[in-house]
Amino acid sequence: MASLGVNIDHIANIRQARRTVEPDPVPFALLAELGGADGITVHLREDRRHIQDRDVELLRQTVRSRLNLEMAATLEMVEIALAVGPDMVTLVPEKREEVTTEGGLDVAGQLSGLTPMVDRLQQQGIPVSLFVDAETSQLEACRSSGARWVELHTGTYAEAPWTEQPHELARITEGAAIARQMGLRVNAGHGLTYQNVEPIAAIPGMEELNIGHTIVARAVAVGLQQAVREMKALVQNPRLDPLFGQALG
Ligand code: PXP
Repeated sequence: MASLGVNIDHIANIRQARRTVEPDPVPFALLAELGGADGITVHLREDRRHIQDRDVELLRQTVRSRLNLEMAATLEMVEIALAVGPDMVTLVPEKREEVTTEGGLDVAGQLSGLTPMVDRLQQQGIPVSLFVDAETSQLEACRSSGARWVELHTGTYAEAPWTEQPHELARITEGAAIARQMGLRVNAGHGLTYQNVEPIAAIPGMEELNIGHTIVARAVAVGLQQAVREMKALVQNPRLDPLFGQALG
């Protein structure tokens, strides 16, 4: 049975839209764990567009499940990961102009640069996962890098028209089998939703799915009525002696 890693970047996205303090992804990680998350995933992007360094540091102190740090394969990020000590690092490709991660990491094309980073992290006891497309050449390169895990990119499957989805599913299923034969452990993620997750979760040997956007979208949907109700109560029945604004002492 696959476990669930909840990606909370989109909580931070809402906060950064206003550069304020709410919603804070740190307590939301606890709520995700209470809901059954087996792990918490955050992507510390180089441009810090959502998750901030302080989030990662605080999450390291508060996450009681497993903390998976997604990051670009750069020296800056490796230093941060070594200082923070997440339970796993997932290396992902990153472009500043992209809205979200597009495509898997080209491990085959960057093997000589990636291998020392993988080695350095794993020497410090941090298992490394590489986010890749389910292609044999990439999986072979993942094995050559020394990484112990791969995260298979499910974005193409998620975005495919329904007529193409069985083909995409077969590709990922085969990729998972090939990776396992090579001795790699297999996670998957990106673009998974309440509608399309089940066939991916049922792939033999699938260990963990990392899912973010659809869960945060669902949380907004199921929580909105109550949030409006609470605000309406305050608007209609304002307290005449609000506590804040009064001098202390
Ligand atoms: N896995 C990786 C490597 C990702 O980059 C992302 C997006 O940050 C996810 C999983 C989660 O994707 P989604 O938000 O579409 O569920």
